[in-house]
Amino acid sequence: MASFGYFLFLCGLSQALSSYPIWWSLAIGHQYSSLGTQPILCGSIPGLVPKQLRFCRNYVEIMPSVAEGVKIGIRECQHQFRGRRWNCTTVNDSLAIFGPVLDKGCFVHAIASAGVAFAVTRFCAEGSATICGCDTRHKGSPGEGWKWGGCSEDVEFGSMVSREFADARENRPDARSAMNRHNNEAGRTAIIELMHLKCKCHGLSGSCEVKTCWWSQPDFRVIGDYLKDKYDSASEMVVEKHRESRGWVETLRPKYNFFKAPTEKDLVYYENSPNFCEPNPETGSFGTRDRICNVTSHGIDGCDLLCCGRGHNTRTEKRKEKCHCIFHWCCYVRCQECIRVYDVHTCK
Ligand SMILES: *[C@@H]1O[C@H](CO)[C@@H](O)[C@H](O)[C@H]1NC(C)=O
Ligand SMILES: *[C@@H]1O[C@H](CO)[C@@H](O)[C@H](O)[C@H]1NC(C)=O
Ligand SMILES: *[C@@H]1O[C@H](CO)[C@@H](O)[C@H](O)[C@H]1NC(C)=O
Repeated sequence: MASFGYFLFLCGLSQALSSYPIWWSLAIGHQYSSLGTQPILCGSIPGLVPKQLRFCRNYVEIMPSVAEGVKIGIRECQHQFRGRRWNCTTVNDSLAIFGPVLDKGCFVHAIASAGVAFAVTRFCAEGSATICGCDTRHKGSPGEGWKWGGCSEDVEFGSMVSREFADARENRPDARSAMNRHNNEAGRTAIIELMHLKCKCHGLSGSCEVKTCWWSQPDFRVIGDYLKDKYDSASEMVVEKHRESRGWVETLRPKYNFFKAPTEKDLVYYENSPNFCEPNPETGSFGTRDRICNVTSHGIDGCDLLCCGRGHNTRTEKRKEKCHCIFHWCCYVRCQECIRVYDVHTCK
């Protein structure tokens, strides 16, 4: 298990606190929670680098969906990591986005940049934006028995926005920037991989004389599940230094050359995660004390692993539930209320 001393070198944490305020201010800041109904003053968003500021001014109408995308990403991260020691929640909410939320493979980077691409793409397809809309490039030759119709979602545009905006800071010549760029791109690639055709039938009374189809993004949950698989099989890299005309440049190369080299779809990391067992405000770890664990599971949600070997407490909890339900003809169900007793296990 990695030691806590490693913390500050992981996934940009040492710089994260100062260099990612844009993410938390977009996702959490109260002044942006009603984006979409109010004008956005780009200059009032703290921490934008000049490139992002220019971007915000040029594309101000899509900024609410950029912010929405970060939120979607973080919510999905919390779903995917719900049973883990670190559950994508941090001590200091205002740092929640690209601050201490780091882990092997930097899932957060991938899911948040996917979220931005996803939300912008969906917003454009709604048709009210002036700078983007549906994807007309797909209007080539359709397959047998159908033609293009509806609105194909323009994931290229959404990805471009995510790339311009989320990667704007990842331009340092160090390994961390290289890793973040790679994982950001993997998030966006996931959406492109998972695009699918949706079709609709037209014709007299339900017949399918004419079928029209368009490209659609999947549910965001599908993207989350896909990236979680990528996270579980993330590739470990080592850092290499090269001398170039602009100075030293760090790049990443696979640690084990008997494994297949990671593609742009894979997540990469170069240092192991901290174990998140103990609380540490500096890193956003709550520790796992008082977390509910599963006494029969041998996985990471089980009491052994989740509680980091400290053991667990057990208490009983009474819950009211519906019981002895009877179906009456016709048609309702009548139940009684029973008290059931459950064992609840929490980490010491
Ligand atoms: C995540 O963990 C924290 C701290 O252990 C806990 O307070 C919070 O309820 C958890 N969130 C979810 C969604 O499980
Ligand atoms: C949380 O982060 C904000 C912004 O960096 C900072 O001002 C505040 O003091 C932090 N709060 C805690 C409890 O660390
Ligand atoms: C606990 O773990 C077992 C075994 O993995 C699983 O079947 C069960 O559904 C889990 N219980 C809860 C409440 O998650």
